[in-house]
Amino acid sequence: MKIEVSEGEKKSDSQRRILLVPFFEQAPIKDIKVELGKALEEVGFTGRSNDIRIVSLPNIKENFCAVGLGKREKYSIETYRRALSSALREIERTGIQSVIASLPGVDGLDLEAFETAYIAETTLYKFSKYKSQNHDTPEIKEILISGKSDLNSALQKGQILGKSTNYARDFANMPPSEGTPSYFEKLARELKNVKISVIEKDKFKELGMGGLEGVSRAAKEPAKLVIMEYKNSSDKPFAIIGKGIIFDSGGISIKPSAGMQEMKFDKCGASAVLGVMKALSEMNAKVNVIGLAPLTENLPGGNAYKPGDILRHYNGKTSEVITTDAEGRLVMADALSYAVDKYSPKAILDISTLTGACVTALGNNIAGLMGNNGELISKMLDVSSKTWEKVWNLPIDDDFREQIKSTVADIKNTGGSQGGAETAGAFLENFIGTTPWLHLDIAGTAWTQEKTAKKEYVGKGATGFGVRLLTEFSIALFN
Ligand code: BES
Ligand code: ZN
Ligand code: ZN
Repeated sequence: MKIEVSEGEKKSDSQRRILLVPFFEQAPIKDIKVELGKALEEVGFTGRSNDIRIVSLPNIKENFCAVGLGKREKYSIETYRRALSSALREIERTGIQSVIASLPGVDGLDLEAFETAYIAETTLYKFSKYKSQNHDTPEIKEILISGKSDLNSALQKGQILGKSTNYARDFANMPPSEGTPSYFEKLARELKNVKISVIEKDKFKELGMGGLEGVSRAAKEPAKLVIMEYKNSSDKPFAIIGKGIIFDSGGISIKPSAGMQEMKFDKCGASAVLGVMKALSEMNAKVNVIGLAPLTENLPGGNAYKPGDILRHYNGKTSEVITTDAEGRLVMADALSYAVDKYSPKAILDISTLTGACVTALGNNIAGLMGNNGELISKMLDVSSKTWEKVWNLPIDDDFREQIKSTVADIKNTGGSQGGAETAGAFLENFIGTTPWLHLDIAGTAWTQEKTAKKEYVGKGATGFGVRLLTEFSIALFN
C-alpha cells in the first residue's frame, strides 16, 4: 500500500477515490464544501463517534467518507485510531482503492500522520493465504494525506511499524505445523542489517540449558534458540526475549482439548521480538538491541519431560517440574540467563504468553508488567500510555517467592493458582541476576477471538501486541 503526502489535486480520477474527512460532534460544518454539508445533513450525520457516512456527490464528482470523532472534550488520539480504522473498513467495502485523508489537526500533524499510516497498515491486514478462494473486495491501494511533504517521514515511520506488526502477526497466525522454529529462523535471516546466530537443539545439553532441553525433548520439529543482533549504537545492548512455544499442548500435563488450537499463539512473544528487530532495522534506529527467541513445541511423548523431573538451567539454578504445562518459564529461564551472561545487557526484557492467571487478572486489553527496576517500569508505563498497548504493573514480592520454593530443587515451576502471573514473574526473577529487568505477560493481549476483538485496528487472530511498544521503548532507552 502506498502511503504518502498528496500536495496537489488530482482531478482526473476523482470518481475512483474517496475523501476521508473527520468531524467533531456539534462542530459547525462551515469550512467544507456546501454540497458536502448539505449531503451530510440530509443523511443525518451527527459527528458522534462510530457515525460513518459515505456519500457520493455527482455534481462535484467526489466521494466522501465522513467519520465522527465524538465530542471534542472527550477526544484523544485513541478516538482517532478507532474512527480511522472503522472508516477504512467501511471504505474497503465500497471497493474504492484510493483514499485521500484529512487529519483531525488536534495532536500535531506529525503524530496524526504517523498514526494514520500505522493504523491503516494494521487495520487492512489480512491473514488469508490459507483460503482457497478470496472473496474480499479489492484492497485499498493508496492512502494520500492532504498536507505538506514534511509529513512523509512520520508516515514512513508509522508504516514501518504497522508492517512490522503485521510481519509478527503473520508468523504468530501460522498453523503450528508450518510456523516452526526453522521457519522462524528463515524469517529472521531475511531481516536486513541483523546478525543471526542459532543454537541448535543438540547444543542445549552441552551448554547447560536444561529448561530448553527438557521442554523440547519430545518435539520432533527441531527446537532452536535464535539470536538476532541489531547494533547501531556503541552503548551496551538491550536484550529482548520472546517466548516461542510453537504449540503448547501442555505436554504430559496435557491441556483440555477444547480451545487447544489457540495454543498455536504461544509463539506470540517470539513473533513480537521478530517484528521489533524488523522495525528497528528498517527505521535505522540508533540502538543496540539483541533479540532472542527460544523456540520449541511442547508435546507429550515416550521421551517427554515429566512432572517430578528436576532441570538444571543455564545459570546453575534447578527447578522442579510440577506441571509440564508451565513450560514457558522453563525455556525463558535459559534464554534470560544466557543473554545476561553472554551480552551483559544494560537492561533485559521478556515478552511471553506466560499465564492464564494474567488473563483472569487483566483481561484481553492489558498486559501484565513486572520487573526489578522502578525507572524501567516508569519508562515502560510512559511509552505504553502513548500506544494502544496497555500494561499494568503487578507486584513480585516475598509471598510470591515463598510460593515457588521447592523441597527438592531451588524452585518449582508453579506456585499454585493464587497469584499465578506474579509467581511466574518470581520464577523468572531467578535468571536475571542484578540486570535491570522487565517482564511482560501478554497471554491476554497477544490474540483476539471473535467475541473479544473490540478494537477494529487490532482485528482477529494475532494482534502483534508488543511490536510498537518495544520498538518505541528501545528507542527511548537509547535516547
Ligand atoms: N501458554 C500457557 C499460558 C496461556 C494460557 C496463555 C491461556 C494464553 C492463554 C502457559 O504455558 C501455561 O499453560 N500456563 C499455565 C501455568 C500453570 C500450569 C502454572 C496456566 O496458566 O494455566
Ligand atoms: Zn503451558
Ligand atoms: Zn505456554
